[in-house]
Amino acid sequence: MLTDLRHLLRLFAIGRCLARHDALGILQRDLPLPAAARTGLGLFQALFGRRRRNLREGERLAAAFGELGPSFIKLGQVLSVRPDLVGEALAADLGQLRDRLPPFAAATARSIVAAELGRPLDEIYASFDDTPVAAASVAQVHFAETTDGQLVAVKVLRPGVADAFARDLELFAWLAEAAERQVAGLDRLRPRDVVASLRAWVAIELDLRLEAAAASELRDNFRDDEDVIVPAIDWQRTARRAMTVQRIAGIPIEDRGAIIAAGLDPAAVADRVIRVFLKQALRDGYFHADMHHGNLFVAADGRLELVDFGIMGRLDMKTRRFMAEMLGAFLTGNWRRAAEVHFEAGYVPADRDVDAFAQACRSIGEPILGRPVDEISIGRLLAQLFQITETFGMQTQTHLLLLQKTMVTVEGVARSLDPNINFWEAARPVIEDWARDNLGPEALLRDAAGSLLRILRRLPEIAERLEKPAGDGISPAASPTARGRDPIRVLQTALLAAITGLLATLLLH
Ligand SMILES: Nc1ncnc2c1ncn2[C@@H]1O[C@H](COP(=O)(O)OP(=O)(O)O)[C@@H](O)[C@H]1O
Ligand SMILES: [Mg+2]
Repeated sequence: MLTDLRHLLRLFAIGRCLARHDALGILQRDLPLPAAARTGLGLFQALFGRRRRNLREGERLAAAFGELGPSFIKLGQVLSVRPDLVGEALAADLGQLRDRLPPFAAATARSIVAAELGRPLDEIYASFDDTPVAAASVAQVHFAETTDGQLVAVKVLRPGVADAFARDLELFAWLAEAAERQVAGLDRLRPRDVVASLRAWVAIELDLRLEAAAASELRDNFRDDEDVIVPAIDWQRTARRAMTVQRIAGIPIEDRGAIIAAGLDPAAVADRVIRVFLKQALRDGYFHADMHHGNLFVAADGRLELVDFGIMGRLDMKTRRFMAEMLGAFLTGNWRRAAEVHFEAGYVPADRDVDAFAQACRSIGEPILGRPVDEISIGRLLAQLFQITETFGMQTQTHLLLLQKTMVTVEGVARSLDPNINFWEAARPVIEDWARDNLGPEALLRDAAGSLLRILRRLPEIAERLEKPAGDGISPAASPTARGRDPIRVLQTALLAAITGLLATLLLH
């Protein structure tokens, strides 16, 4: 009873905040609420409402969530990867939610670190900067130098954040339960499912040892890699609420000017971004799922530096195989196959019509394939695909959504560095390497894929030969009528087919 009362009070505050940001309309329109709840929302709107029609609905909701604190910021982030639930537009706006809060006092940060590590701060660090480098809803980061002379970054959990989460998660669970039980039609939004994802994400973010473990696993996967540096964890100075990481000194990736000034080629960096993502997702099945600008830096030697390992995605072999086969089928225009792999993976119920599904695949694939290769966005293709799969009764695969969202982010970052980036050119080395590594011990595979590999190796040479006749100074791709016969495009399509076919062959074994 007392808990109910507490939840109701908190709900009141939430309703008021949503009204002030003019964000109640979304709930009224999109949720099949009972009459009483509707009246309640209308009352809030009348009492506290402001009009902010210059902003999109999603922006208004994001602003309200930002004000409502850490748990709502996370809720917004969880919903931003669930366009299947909230729609594309809303998901995109929630993805822009700024996770920034005013910093907490340095003295507090120092005492948290000392308490967590069980020693006075000056026994742990030779110096500890008072001004944080960043402050977000869950944690803030201070630079420091350890007593043994290492330059580090120390991530410190915000005081009280665990309690705030616990309180709000209890409220969310209470609401989800009530909603699913009492409001017909709301179960479509799977509120309890959303709360469960939220709980899982938060559990990782509230225990920095888990983030440290994620960083450590990724670092192991990328030891001596020529494309990326993952900073080392200082486990002796890491506990639940404080994490010490080797400091990186790279250029923020959004600073294109500084990248150029450092003598680096932004296009090469863009290629790296894509390669690094693919190595994680394809080769390791373990990927950084928050690869936005703020978490990426460029080292002096051009390698990428990653920070922030709070959100990671995992793909098992079956899923990677599905992705490779499905993309392969799409990019070679084999719509029937594209449909079949969904059924084979068990994603779409067996009683659905494969041909109708193939037709739906064609309807999203053809418009995309008709465009120049450097304009094809795999992330968007997946987004559209997941939209149609839903109508065929495909159970939402949340790990695929996370992968898709990350692909969109990665493509966005790469394109901001190089507007003409060709995703497939950037991807090729990873796929080839992966093939080589996996070929060695498997004679059988070598036979199956050897000829494809030979073609792949000769592609640059073939490309050169094809390019020459078109050397009249006019790019064939610029003329829409010539597009279909452009030899480079034909080559690229062949390349796509070869790569994806090879990939599928390998994954199948
Ligand atoms: N190892 C590091 N070296 C240098 N700067 C870092 C390091 N880790 C974090 N930072 C800085 O702190 C910011 C916030 O850290 P991050 O781990 O991304 O926290 P959040 O989860 O709050 O986004 C980063 O964007 C970066 O500027
Ligand atoms: Mg970050």
